[in-house]
Amino acid sequence: MRFPLKWPALNGRVLLLGLLLASSAAYADDPRTTQTAGHKGPTALRGPGRAAIASANFHATEAGLEVLSKGGNAFDAAVAVASTLSVVEPESSGIGGGFMAVIHRAWDGKQFFIDARETAPAAVNVKDYLNKDGTPNRDTALNGPLSAGIPGEPAGLVWLSKHYGKLPLKDALAPAVRIARDGFEPDSRLINAITERQKDIGRWPASVTKFLPDGKPPVAGAVWRDPDQARTLELLGEKGLDGFYRGEVAQKLVSSVRAAGGNWTAKDLESYQVKEREPITVNYRGYRIVTAPPPSSGGVAVAEILNILSGFDLSKMDTAHRMHLVIEAMRRAFRDHNDYLGDPDFVKMPLDMLLSPYYADGLRQTILMDKATPSSMLPSSAGAEPGMHTTHFSIIDGEGNIASITLTVNYTLGSTFVAQGTGVLLNDEMDDFALVPNKPNVYGLLGSKANAPEPGKRMLSSMTPSIVFGADRIGVIGSPGGSTIITQVLEGIFAFIDGKNALGIAGQKRFHHQFMPDRVDMEDGVFDKATADELTRMGHALKQREPWGYMNVVTWDLKSGTLDAASDPRRPSGLGKVQ
Ligand code: DON
Repeated sequence: MRFPLKWPALNGRVLLLGLLLASSAAYADDPRTTQTAGHKGPTALRGPGRAAIASANFHATEAGLEVLSKGGNAFDAAVAVASTLSVVEPESSGIGGGFMAVIHRAWDGKQFFIDARETAPAAVNVKDYLNKDGTPNRDTALNGPLSAGIPGEPAGLVWLSKHYGKLPLKDALAPAVRIARDGFEPDSRLINAITERQKDIGRWPASVTKFLPDGKPPVAGAVWRDPDQARTLELLGEKGLDGFYRGEVAQKLVSSVRAAGGNWTAKDLESYQVKEREPITVNYRGYRIVTAPPPSSGGVAVAEILNILSGFDLSKMDTAHRMHLVIEAMRRAFRDHNDYLGDPDFVKMPLDMLLSPYYADGLRQTILMDKATPSSMLPSSAGAEPGMHTTHFSIIDGEGNIASITLTVNYTLGSTFVAQGTGVLLNDEMDDFALVPNKPNVYGLLGSKANAPEPGKRMLSSMTPSIVFGADRIGVIGSPGGSTIITQVLEGIFAFIDGKNALGIAGQKRFHHQFMPDRVDMEDGVFDKATADELTRMGHALKQREPWGYMNVVTWDLKSGTLDAASDPRRPSGLGKVQ
């Protein structure tokens, strides 16, 4: 057996013992338990010596590798990747948005969840999201400053750097500052996003300056610069939180927002706080999955689905029945998503119940083996296009530190609103609140009181950055795609457990059910004809959709020490690389 290069002082036998002890400590838990208090990792694992990064843009992957080569660790690299994505992939994430991260710290084997989600401003008013006749106003929910939550990403990057990184923040931000200042060639996704949202961009002068420099979207091959964002990132590097949440940048953010009809105050920015929370841990078929807790709904839903499925012997079933049961589990988990989940600092959630294997036992009893349950028949309370705006990256460094991070400005190019003189494109995350009870948001998700907007509250997210620990292998998984994030990650976990490599996991065909609308979305070819026919016979409404998601995966084979990295083959520009 070969072990990672970095362990010269130890012989193979000692290492093997270490590995066995580590894995038995980490995985001996009752396989049916789900815990919110995780923190038990494979403590004795040593790093692979090399590093791997997969992100949605090659500039960002290279920026992360550059920072690693300068002595940074996975968390410094994460700052470099995230800030570079803010420059080169603004349609998906940025310093005007937020992120959620699951990280694994090699030196003590602990996992943490970092919540840099946006918050509602103190003056939030539900009337701003209603037309005069009381119908939902989709424009204020999705465009312009009223749609924007107080950004969390800058504070999250400061937090990652300060608490987990090795390098000064300034050094980790340096590649992004350089690229913003010197320029880069926008890829087809960015050009398409600007073209798609040109009309909304045209409503705000600083947005026109940034995205339509010659009065029209950039063209392929042209160099695109973002000097205002370069300066803002530089101030963040020099002054930390004060560089964004106080002083010059904060003043410009507040005055631009207010001049355009928004309601932010200096206090909203000053009082923004990153929250560190216990990740959700679920054991499934000998694997330990560490994932996102509320205010993400992702981890709860993934845990609930896995707990339901762990009571079936899926390996003995034909594909149609296996898929039927997965879909039925998805349906039930999304029902609970709509009814119960929100910001844990504001709402009481029955998490012990939702995560309990006994609760899953009960739900399992409601599933018919041969027949779809119409969602309308399940006790509880409209459709949308799953997209791929928002972004996910995965990193493992040479020491074995791991970062699984999903970042968002919500819909393509967020609110399309850029604050004058800052280069900061604001998110439109307010639409992730249930702005109008039981009316679908842009991803067709419904919500209730638990996710109603309130001053300072975090809007519920589907972001599900995850790390899967097996006895022999570790996988770092996540993706954008609104509500489909949850099912993408779930299916990614299945692919990882089935032994697929990083490309196999990222490229695997997808299907999705989210309770309402009551249908199974599927990519072309995910089910063979016989399976599709059988699912239809059982009462599932199948609908073929354009491919969705942008999964970026890294894996680590603990026996050979080999790393693998891949970016979703559905999209251009991504890069998974081992160095
Ligand atoms: O936090 C959330 O769940 C959404 N803002 C994510 C949006 C997203 O993934 C967009 N991509 N289609």
